Amino acid sequence: MDIQENQQAVDISKPPYLHLISAFLAMEPPDVLISLARKCGGGLIGESIQGFIWNNYINTTVGDGGCQQGPYLKRVLKKLIGEIESDGGVVLDELYEHYAFIMTNLKGDNFSGGNSRVLKRISFLFPDECCELSSCPKSKKLEVSLHCSVNMLEGDTGCSIWPSSLFLSEFILSFPNIFSNRSCFEVGSGVGLVGICLAHVKASAVVLSDGDLSTLSNMRLNLESNLLSTRIDVPECKKDASTVQCVHLPWESATEIELQNFAPDIIVGADVIYDPLYLPHLVRVLTVLLKRGTSFPNHGSVRSEGCQPDSKCIRSEVQHADFEFDSSKGKAESCSAPCVEDKDDALERRPVAYIASVIRNIETFNYFLELTKEANLTVADITENSKPFDLLPYAKSYQRSTIRIFSISYN
Ligand SMILES: C[S@@+](CC[C@H](N)C(=O)[O-])C[C@H]1O[C@@H](n2cnc3c(N)ncnc32)[C@H](O)[C@@H]1O
Repeated sequence: MDIQENQQAVDISKPPYLHLISAFLAMEPPDVLISLARKCGGGLIGESIQGFIWNNYINTTVGDGGCQQGPYLKRVLKKLIGEIESDGGVVLDELYEHYAFIMTNLKGDNFSGGNSRVLKRISFLFPDECCELSSCPKSKKLEVSLHCSVNMLEGDTGCSIWPSSLFLSEFILSFPNIFSNRSCFEVGSGVGLVGICLAHVKASAVVLSDGDLSTLSNMRLNLESNLLSTRIDVPECKKDASTVQCVHLPWESATEIELQNFAPDIIVGADVIYDPLYLPHLVRVLTVLLKRGTSFPNHGSVRSEGCQPDSKCIRSEVQHADFEFDSSKGKAESCSAPCVEDKDDALERRPVAYIASVIRNIETFNYFLELTKEANLTVADITENSKPFDLLPYAKSYQRSTIRIFSISYN
């Protein structure tokens, strides 16, 4: 079969084709790809869809030196060929041949020499209603390349992309005015995705931190891959919009003076509430960073974003809680805070933290709440009133409904 003959005119910049390619680039599981491919083909994965996949993903990945993706491609091709055959369809020769090539060259699950790191390309797709957001590129697509591990455990925790960092990134891109022109500091930054989004919305300074040295070097590689220059371990945070600073900062050994020197306006963190052993240290770090008083002479008014998909709440510069957790009882309480902040209150403001988290273990989370209460911090669940746009509609393996976002401030 000639692939060119089988290619119908398709618009790669529009769903469902855009979603299919985005899912391939983000290395979504084979099942997700199959269901998106079927959507493109009206139920079947015919020759024209196969040709589209070959031309727009597999062939370009091979040409890209994408041998890192070998184990993934092997799983995808196996599933794809199996599905087409069980439909009674014709499989393109190119797909068979490439599968055979991978099978011959791939030893075990590694590709010549072995490397458990892969390159995922995460595409944030802005729907039409987002076009007025300052974070929305002309192309309506922000693609971030991330070297990461496919192994979430076994010492590679910080080199994997955790779901809360996807959610926090969507939050940053959906509410850019919260972060633009503010100095931002991230705890437990992992692969650096959140920092790349903060730089994209023009935070005045971005400091990323992690306690793990191999995570930091992978993070720097990612920042450079996304054309961001990095500064390494400069102890005092001099605000600098053009670079992202990467800091080795284990929570347990960070000193008060070291932390106070960062003096950020906003602190962020994704999936950092999980290890009870380190929670007291994390809460101490957050408390020192949040305790500082700050004035924002240029941010006294509340600005709306223009796009208001959620009629219940204006997408304002500062978002508020709909729930406060009663840490003594470990349950959420209703909060009557308004959606839009008083202008006078906004004039003199302390730093705020935005922490996204999957609550995997309620006891661990309640322990975190107890510690924050003792430290005089207010934790508010803002997930419902400040829902970010779904900018990753193709990423079916990412269950955004399991993620909460909390704003934390010092009383
Ligand atoms: C579950 S990962 C989340 C990574 C990233 N935020 C994300 O969501 O993809 C937790 C991160 O916190 C870092 N971390 C864990 N304990 C830490 C500690 N005691 N001090 C500093 N960083 C720590 C890990 O190295 C890792 O990068």
